[in-house]
Amino acid sequence: MTDSRVPRRRRFLVCEPRHFAVQYAINPWMRPDAQVDVDLAREQWQTLISTYDAHGHTVDAVDPVPGLPDMVFAANSAVVVDGRVFGSLFHAPERRPESTHYDTWFTSAGYDVHRPESVCEGEGDLVWTGRYVLAGTGFRTSREAHREVQEFFGHPVISLTLVDPRFYHLDTALFVLDDSTGGNNIVYYPEAFTPGSREVLARLYPDAVLATHDDAMAFGLNSVSDGRNVFIAPQAEALAARLGEHGYVPVPVDLSELHKAGGGIKCCTQEIRS
Ligand code: ARG
Repeated sequence: MTDSRVPRRRRFLVCEPRHFAVQYAINPWMRPDAQVDVDLAREQWQTLISTYDAHGHTVDAVDPVPGLPDMVFAANSAVVVDGRVFGSLFHAPERRPESTHYDTWFTSAGYDVHRPESVCEGEGDLVWTGRYVLAGTGFRTSREAHREVQEFFGHPVISLTLVDPRFYHLDTALFVLDDSTGGNNIVYYPEAFTPGSREVLARLYPDAVLATHDDAMAFGLNSVSDGRNVFIAPQAEALAARLGEHGYVPVPVDLSELHKAGGGIKCCTQEIRS
């Protein structure tokens, strides 16, 4: 069965955690008194990058900026579909300056960046499935932004409401396993959503892999899949095993140091879809 899963080469945008720290608390995982080992964070992050490389994915990097400790979470800075870049407007004032640096990178790479009018945190809440954009709201990205995203891309945007502050971004509660039209499928943790949103997901994805509370607490939903290989937190052992049964190949990468800021593998990875 494993051989039926076909990987697609991706282009990722990342940012080294050179200035990583937990200096403020904007989600329940962040404890300002947390001791952060920057060298360990950099080592773990480097392993993620070499793992992508070893699997044939291309990685571009934005230069980290001192004083922006969350800049490592590249996924939050934009969502790119069909080569169009929808930038971010962060909820927390502490993170707002990150946008300029990412926008500069996109501009010099030859992209125009759309600046959103309302709060919008990129791929943190906007998940491209290959058919439409699943869009989270409740803690960060606003519903107004969902409308703006639909106008911008001309792809259907499906609003989903998050209810558990520990799963404050959609990418902490759901990820896409396969964005090809044939195999389109996702993994999600139902309890992170309102009953209505759960029903929407059940209708759209009757064959979805459902994650447990333990999977979600282990950052198992903050994974990246290339259609075959699933880059996943080793702490999410049970979910990894279930994905194996579904024919995917779990590739464990430990970002435990970054979990202290409430982020994992997907948070550190933005996909550039040309
Ligand atoms: N400390 C960051 C924040 O709360 C973590 C962001 C994690 N990123 C993500 N895509 N979920 O904004």
